[in-house]
Amino acid sequence: MAVESLDDVLPKLRRRPDVEAPNLQAWDATDRLLLDTAAELMRPGLGLTVIGDRYGALTLGALAVLDPGALKVHQDLITGEQALRLNAAEVLGNAGAGFTQLPLGPELLEGAGLVLLQLPKTLAELDQIAEAVVRHAGPDVVLLAGGRVKHMSLGMNAVLERHFSSVTPQLARQKSRVIAASGPRGAGGPERFPIIEHLAEIELDVAAQGAVFAGPKLDIGTRFLLTFVPSMRAAQHAIDLGCGTGILAAMYARQHPGSTVTATDQSAAAVASALATAGINGLAGQVRVLQDDAMATLAAGIADLILLNPPFHVGAGVHAGAGLKLIEAAGRVLAPGGELWTVFNRHLAYFPALERHVGPTVVKGQNSKFTVTLSTRRGLR
Ligand SMILES: C[S@@+](CC[C@H](N)C(=O)[O-])C[C@H]1O[C@@H](n2cnc3c(N)ncnc32)[C@H](O)[C@@H]1O
Repeated sequence: MAVESLDDVLPKLRRRPDVEAPNLQAWDATDRLLLDTAAELMRPGLGLTVIGDRYGALTLGALAVLDPGALKVHQDLITGEQALRLNAAEVLGNAGAGFTQLPLGPELLEGAGLVLLQLPKTLAELDQIAEAVVRHAGPDVVLLAGGRVKHMSLGMNAVLERHFSSVTPQLARQKSRVIAASGPRGAGGPERFPIIEHLAEIELDVAAQGAVFAGPKLDIGTRFLLTFVPSMRAAQHAIDLGCGTGILAAMYARQHPGSTVTATDQSAAAVASALATAGINGLAGQVRVLQDDAMATLAAGIADLILLNPPFHVGAGVHAGAGLKLIEAAGRVLAPGGELWTVFNRHLAYFPALERHVGPTVVKGQNSKFTVTLSTRRGLR
């Protein structure tokens, strides 16, 4: 299939299996700006690495217009990895042609002369990515980091300046901007991620990779849900759905030592963090982790308890679809009679979805910000 310009690629991209809606796009002006900026630097033999590609725009766009020899890609979300393969099949007629999907680490960055990055949401994630680039790529590497101007902050420049001697913001175009970073300062010392902190209020050590929700801190919704854990039933198989650093999984496992717990998330950084959190608290034998999109690989009816602090942000916009997807998944994976414990912001109207997808739902607690509900999976045991 002849694919020679970005117009052959970008309009065909979709987000599935991630949530799709008319107001949610699979690519943005930053992808185009990054690719146009890269075209000015690209030359034969220059190793190209893409980090943070949302749904494949950078990877498939690079294959179309940059003619890279080899192209390596890292995406934190399994949904992004899957969307890239599905889009490659659609656009190129081949799900894995021309690129290799890798974790953030040495193999991804060895030999990279140019790195294209969609700027992440948090400074911690940017810090970990910049550290990896400096540690594993060569001394001549150039990092092009792009984002929507409204989501960029001077803190991002400061993080990049810690890792690179030259950090130069380029002119903005269509409300996007690229920052060019070069002259890696050299990564001495041990890797800083995961960051490990002791949370004295719950007597737990928490491990956090850069990209994980809430970092090594306790989210206030999670804190409220944790107060109900001692009164929850001792499940045979409990699931921490959207586990982040795995605090709920670890605390449930500790208080219910006879239960097996699965901590699952779509984010590679989250499952790596949850695995480390379980390990440093002596719970590795009880907690297993799984990177998965809304438990898609788990059989129906295999859990008797699910803990859920759902996301309510999709990308930078606010969209309830991501939380609703997890509630629907909980209904599928719970056995009849099984329990879903959910914490959510009081203004979010999750109640009808809980009743529809899971079963009868009661409010177990409310504070000024959050509601905790218990839904019992309908059907005969
Ligand atoms: C509000 S955070 C809660 C994290 C953690 N449970 C806690 O309480 O600190 C929601 C989590 O859901 C995850 N998530 C969002 N959509 C998901 C999906 N489709 N499949 C699996 N996990 C998902 C996010 O990556 C994020 O870690």
